[in-house]
Amino acid sequence: MRELTLKAYAKLNLTLDILRKRPDGYHDLAMVMQSVSLADEVTLTLTDTAAIRCESNVEGLPTDERNLAVRAALRFFQETGLPPTGLHIRLVKRIPSCAGMAGGSSDAAAVLRGLRALLLPSLPMEELLRIGALIGSDVPYCICGTTALAEGRGERLTVLAPMPAACFVICKPDFPISTPELFGLVRADAIADRPDTAGMIAALERGDLAAVAARLHNVFEAVLPEKYGEVFAIKRRLLALGALNAAMSGSGPTVYGIFADRSAAEAAQAALSREWGQCWLAQPVRSAEDAV
Ligand code: C5P
Repeated sequence: MRELTLKAYAKLNLTLDILRKRPDGYHDLAMVMQSVSLADEVTLTLTDTAAIRCESNVEGLPTDERNLAVRAALRFFQETGLPPTGLHIRLVKRIPSCAGMAGGSSDAAAVLRGLRALLLPSLPMEELLRIGALIGSDVPYCICGTTALAEGRGERLTVLAPMPAACFVICKPDFPISTPELFGLVRADAIADRPDTAGMIAALERGDLAAVAARLHNVFEAVLPEKYGEVFAIKRRLLALGALNAAMSGSGPTVYGIFADRSAAEAAQAALSREWGQCWLAQPVRSAEDAV
């Protein structure tokens, strides 16, 4: 096998809690994560040149080591000790960058999964996850996908019961939010209102969509500077359009609403698209087979 195409799914945070600041500057987190059908496509081709080359359908997207997909390939060879072969990475990007949906991390995860499948199928999954964590905090989760609790920096994973069938309407306002800047605004020990992580896990186990929706909670929303107020405007609009609930994903600015009913979700997406340019309809990715 010389070529492989993989889907790199976006993720949404059903919950995001910040437990404490760590001596290494990172934060210990507890996040219930969900992969969704909005996805990039990553094609890996082994070549006879000695170089790692990358191209994408997005003008201006770095295709050198600033791109996490390229960094993942370099790390894979470094950490496994395999002699680097020539590699061509083609990214068809649909997940917006700097959105809180782990687009870059998901591409990196797809590169790691793909190189393992092409070159080293015997590499244990734990080792792949360890290499993923060297690239970024969300990469280990993106390697596994589906519904999972991510703890520690994001690298300690527990697979959860799959999310019940639902529709997401996802909307990204037109500004980036810097993740380190937002972490800098949080005093972990002063957070009063936290997600009910255990309640979310129990709701998933019961397959109770209303209870899952009721427990969406991202602690970053409470420290969001006023200049990002559009996030709350989109949340309010999603609720007015019939979402069971709505929340910001990760460090934003993407906001999503959960709908039980596909036709209501389609109508909401159409209405939102008239006000905010970037809106998508997506479903939960519910099984690991979907994610490979
Ligand atoms: O690991 P990654 O490079 O994705 O993290 C980006 C930034 O987010 C880090 O430099 C850090 O400021 C912040 N971060 C954090 N705690 C985490 C994950 C990320 O403080 N668990």
